[in-house]
Amino acid sequence: MKALLLAGGTGSRLFPVTLGVSKQLLPVYDKPMVYYPLSVLLLAGIREVLVISTPEDIEQYERLLGDGSQWGITLLYKVQERPNGLAAAFILGEAFVGSDPVCLILGDNIFYGLDFSTQLEAVVERTRLGSKATIFGFTVKDPQRYGVIEYDTEGEVISIEEKPEYPKSQQAVVGLYFYPNEVVAIAKGIQPSARGELEITAVNQAFLERQQLQVENLGRGFAWLDTGTHESLLEASQFIETVEKRQGLKIGCLEEVAYQKGFITKEQLVQQAKKLEGTPYGDYLLARYA
Ligand code: G1P
Repeated sequence: MKALLLAGGTGSRLFPVTLGVSKQLLPVYDKPMVYYPLSVLLLAGIREVLVISTPEDIEQYERLLGDGSQWGITLLYKVQERPNGLAAAFILGEAFVGSDPVCLILGDNIFYGLDFSTQLEAVVERTRLGSKATIFGFTVKDPQRYGVIEYDTEGEVISIEEKPEYPKSQQAVVGLYFYPNEVVAIAKGIQPSARGELEITAVNQAFLERQQLQVENLGRGFAWLDTGTHESLLEASQFIETVEKRQGLKIGCLEEVAYQKGFITKEQLVQQAKKLEGTPYGDYLLARYA
């Protein structure tokens, strides 16, 4: 399983904050936003990731994340020349994806919940062996801001609509998607939407029409956090701070996740942590593992 991590966009809703820096590099409490989705990929056991960003921002991602070897993974980079939709990622990443199944994750999505790693590993395995795509639904108060899942009375999914004016449910599609390799061909076949973008929702709708779409619900014990507005970005930081301070455990700590997954040794973790000695992040790792 390969993964595409999308860290593009203009972040226009956060202007002027994002006039000089890419949104997914902004801090969410004690680490860059992109650490959180990257940690989800590690938790899923995915070790080959293509980071996609704008011509202006890609170098900053390379500087921050490097080649991934410090976490026992491989990171490659690809420029998206213009923002033409999330589904364009499959076309940009075609050579990287090759004949493998592929996960797409949005660099501004934050996930937190019990046993997520186990759930993700099961989805990876199912996607690898089968022909179905998997997306996740989460109940939100403002579904019109997202892709929205419509269910019939039996609970079967009947449609997915992108940012509908009148949402047919409160179930938003989160920014984490798992697809069989067929997704590349499907992405190539979809038409741009009214706003001129290759929508991920059109890809999901195509899988739904083929009866190859599995929708999993992330229940109310789960947190899917938004970072799209100044308020929600601040709230995401406060959420992470609250949980981290209470438990004395870090969320989205890449070295720790990589070590727990067996991607790096304890020695490698400590070597990395020493570079950050004197910061809460570095000292957390050293206190726990050195
Ligand atoms: C995108 C997708 C939308 C999804 C959302 C999740 O929207 O188009 O279907 O619900 O991500 O974050 P965006 O936030 O890029 O406008």
